[in-house]
Amino acid sequence: MRIDRFISTNTIYSRSDVKKFIKKKRVFVNDKLIKDSSFQIEGTEKIELNKEIIKAHDFIYYILDKPKGFISATRDFKHKTIIELIPEKYKHLNLKPVGRLDKDTTGLIILTNDNDFIHTMTSPKNNVIKKYQVTLADNIQSNYKEKIKKGIILKDGTITKPGEFEIIDDKKCFLTITEGKYHQVKRMFAALGNKVVELRRIQFGEYKIT
Ligand code: URA
Repeated sequence: MRIDRFISTNTIYSRSDVKKFIKKKRVFVNDKLIKDSSFQIEGTEKIELNKEIIKAHDFIYYILDKPKGFISATRDFKHKTIIELIPEKYKHLNLKPVGRLDKDTTGLIILTNDNDFIHTMTSPKNNVIKKYQVTLADNIQSNYKEKIKKGIILKDGTITKPGEFEIIDDKKCFLTITEGKYHQVKRMFAALGNKVVELRRIQFGEYKIT
């Protein structure tokens, strides 16, 4: 990893702050002055900034109950992002969302700087559970459970993997799926002739909220 990235990930300083520190001769690796911000380290070295040793953070996993109106990206010119919702003290840690929720979807989203965790949770072959509470525009039909269990043919011809369906009331239900296709829940109910009006994720893998 580059020395400037290591220091910015593990301190409150940005990459450009670190570059300035390097120019000012304030960064040492194993007691050797570093002059190049692209200098490569493994992370096991003694790394000093302003005479203080910088240690690598353990990975951070931050669970957020996303409100409406925020997109699941780290930066965007037009929309508010979920990064604005994490406490200031975690903002320098390069947390990234594990998968995506739509701007108007609420509920459980995890942010982390552990790229292996992101891969494990989002890889289609791992079939990680996602459970949603869904409110529909029209009444639930008696055939939904069976159709969802078999797999729904979306309007573009894609067939979804079997899902689980539980009725809450006439227009509300829980849907549990193991895929994360683009707008999947909305497209599944559109294929059933209904429309999602509220969507909330309450479980992702072993992590749950109410
Ligand atoms: N499915 C959707 O349609 N939207 C989401 O935000 C998540 C799953």
